[in-house]
Amino acid sequence: MDTLFWRLKDENLLPRKYFEVDFPMIVARKIHNIKSKPPLSKPIMESHSGDSLLIDSHSLDSSRYSIVGADLRSSSDLEEKLRKHSLDTHLPTLLVAECVLVYMTPQQSASLLKWAASTFPVAMVINYEQVNMRDRFGQIMIENLQRRHCNLAGVELCSSLDSQRERLLGSGWDNAHAVDMMKVYSFLPQADVKRIEALEFLDEKELFEQLMQHYCICWASKDSSNLGLANIDF
Ligand SMILES: C[S@@+](CC[C@H](N)C(=O)[O-])C[C@H]1O[C@@H](n2cnc3c(N)ncnc32)[C@H](O)[C@@H]1O
Repeated sequence: MDTLFWRLKDENLLPRKYFEVDFPMIVARKIHNIKSKPPLSKPIMESHSGDSLLIDSHSLDSSRYSIVGADLRSSSDLEEKLRKHSLDTHLPTLLVAECVLVYMTPQQSASLLKWAASTFPVAMVINYEQVNMRDRFGQIMIENLQRRHCNLAGVELCSSLDSQRERLLGSGWDNAHAVDMMKVYSFLPQADVKRIEALEFLDEKELFEQLMQHYCICWASKDSSNLGLANIDF
């Protein structure tokens, strides 16, 4: 379960509307969890106003939270479903992908990113996924995932920070940046770092650092209203 909506609600940081997209089968599981667990359903009800909330086995639409079962490789179907849930493409929009583009071929992820760049005039995309996958450690990660029947069809675009940035720039986005998670880790407040490092799993510091060097955050923007999105940086 992706808890971002609930954490944003707790901190009073909800956007006008939060949309989540995943395969219909996964969405059905998430909706079942939402329906059966009051800590998940209550914040959705609390933030809902207006007409009655729409819910079936593969989608849920409330005024602030919507979850849609769709294949991201088909932008037209995706857009139709999002628009049915009152997506307003003219509002400034943040698109977040967490280890999802890597499961698509480079053509499929480029087509999704191009659709997003041409659909949202004021937007930022953030992509969190693997990087530096051509080195020995990256190859071991690929082999481990293949053993679990996870085929990383788009792994060639995860070969470097440059390849990640270039995908965004080549798909109609401006001002692309990418940093590996070791760098992100070095920017965290030292008190948090100490707390995290005291956890048992960090006994293997070298392994942790190698893992951090193999994940990255990339971001890019489109800013027809000159909101200053290009200046957002670490
Ligand atoms: C690493 S998980 C991120 C999950 C999310 N942050 C969460 O906690 O539920 C990647 C997700 O991408 C979804 N995914 C992969 N390819 C997809 C596609 N073509 N269309 C829709 N969802 C896809 C997978 O089903 C998986 O739930």
